[in-house]
Amino acid sequence: MEIRFVAPDTLLTGTAVVAVFSDRTLSPPGKALDDLTDGGLGRAMAASPKFKGGRDEVLILPSIAADGLDRVILLGLGAPDAVDARAAQRAGGTLAAQANQAGATGIMVKAELPGDAAISTDAMAAELAFGALLRAYRFDRYKTDQKPEAKWTLNELVLVCADPAAALAAFDSRRAVADGVTLARDLVSEPPNILQPEAFADRCRDLADLGVEVEILDDDALKDLGMGALLGVGQGSQCGTRLAVMQWMGAPDPATPPIAFIGKGVTFDTGGISLKPSAGMDEMKTDMAGAAAVAGLMRAVAGRKAKANVIGILGLVENMPSGAAQRPGDVVTSMSGQTIEVLNTDAEGRLVLADALWYTQDRFKPAFMVDLATLTGAVLIALGQHKAGVFSNNDELAERLYEAGESVGEALWRLPLADAYNKDIDSDVADMKNIAGNRFAGSIIGAQFLQRFVNEVPWAHLDIAGVAWTKKDDPITPKGATGFGVRLLDRLVAEHYES
Ligand code: BES
Ligand code: MN
Ligand code: ZN
Repeated sequence: MEIRFVAPDTLLTGTAVVAVFSDRTLSPPGKALDDLTDGGLGRAMAASPKFKGGRDEVLILPSIAADGLDRVILLGLGAPDAVDARAAQRAGGTLAAQANQAGATGIMVKAELPGDAAISTDAMAAELAFGALLRAYRFDRYKTDQKPEAKWTLNELVLVCADPAAALAAFDSRRAVADGVTLARDLVSEPPNILQPEAFADRCRDLADLGVEVEILDDDALKDLGMGALLGVGQGSQCGTRLAVMQWMGAPDPATPPIAFIGKGVTFDTGGISLKPSAGMDEMKTDMAGAAAVAGLMRAVAGRKAKANVIGILGLVENMPSGAAQRPGDVVTSMSGQTIEVLNTDAEGRLVLADALWYTQDRFKPAFMVDLATLTGAVLIALGQHKAGVFSNNDELAERLYEAGESVGEALWRLPLADAYNKDIDSDVADMKNIAGNRFAGSIIGAQFLQRFVNEVPWAHLDIAGVAWTKKDDPITPKGATGFGVRLLDRLVAEHYES
């Protein structure tokens, strides 16, 4: 979608969008258009009693035209003093979806906010465009015969602003974040026969174009490092196992300790020898959503040249059953030296992260580590699909993550860690076992396992199993892969770790 910001004196042409506030109050450009059409907007609203001008409401007026105008769209924004960045993004997403549905190929938005609003009209324009971009996402690479009405046709968005240069500057960093979200969604959407560990690593290598330093460690390198936990997961697969190591060193002082993000990248999780039931197993192509979010974050911070040192580490592996696969009962030795009794080969994410976390703190001595993983089905039982679980050994980090999630609309809820749970994974034959052996507190047990590999570094674990994929459209997230985590982590970095 082409996005442009233009000066206030630009003439409205084609499809014009004007803002309406609560109780059908027209914005100044709306009033001007109403005058131009001899009260056409007021009459149209009167004839559409359900349209109140509230948030996420859009009214398309196909029959209202004026000189050079084909149609008018009324964009509901609710109370003007409650329009913040998130509300503007949602409005932009809803607007784009409905304009596209109506067959518009281009729209011109002149949405003025009153002076006492929470954000400026220019900032709102940038956020509207960001929301529209996020909603316009489609994954149709494998559709060879798409019906014209199913295609995304809205390809031009023009925003009238007081200061187009300022709006464009604000939008540029938003676009970088949208590119990160798009990358994450693409990776999660790709089928598991296409996006195998090496293919995922190739997509990471592409980030070198933006200035990210990318290293890909192969099976031999991982073996030399002693990553028996990670390698055990991949040993039943025909695919190789990889660890992607990405560095964006944007801090003015290169010696600033980096902050590190670690992603679970199981490109397909059959469960291994502890095989999953066949119903819905296809959904396990999304078991790399944590790694996808970290890749997306790296793209976002590099794209907007964030002034921070950010490390991204991805454990990329396929969990398959075969004659070579790891067995329930196997004991593996992790890079940390700790031994693990693998009682269930389907609790593989924690084995992947065990080595990835240890490697990260050992090599980079980060200020903190945050891992993202579709780790447990149990987090869906606890929190459903509306919030992700967060676990942490550090209250400040947990609080910052929570706040970042609230502000971007990627909600987290903190769940506890405690010694009593930790004891549940002590093993009779090794240092620990990878399951507790009962059905209780599955997400906490997973987090306790991870904590044994963080070596006292401030750390948080985000269990995103419930939020990585949605079956329903949302104003800024079409159904499918959500890209959850990219916007949240980008906000965390921008808010607290950029100098
Ligand atoms: N990838 C799954 C978790 C998952 C479940 C992700 C549903 C997305 C949706 C993970 O590897 C897994 O299989 N976890 C097991 C752990 C159990 C064996 C202790 C689970 O949740 O059942
Ligand atoms: Mn599993
Ligand atoms: Zn898994």
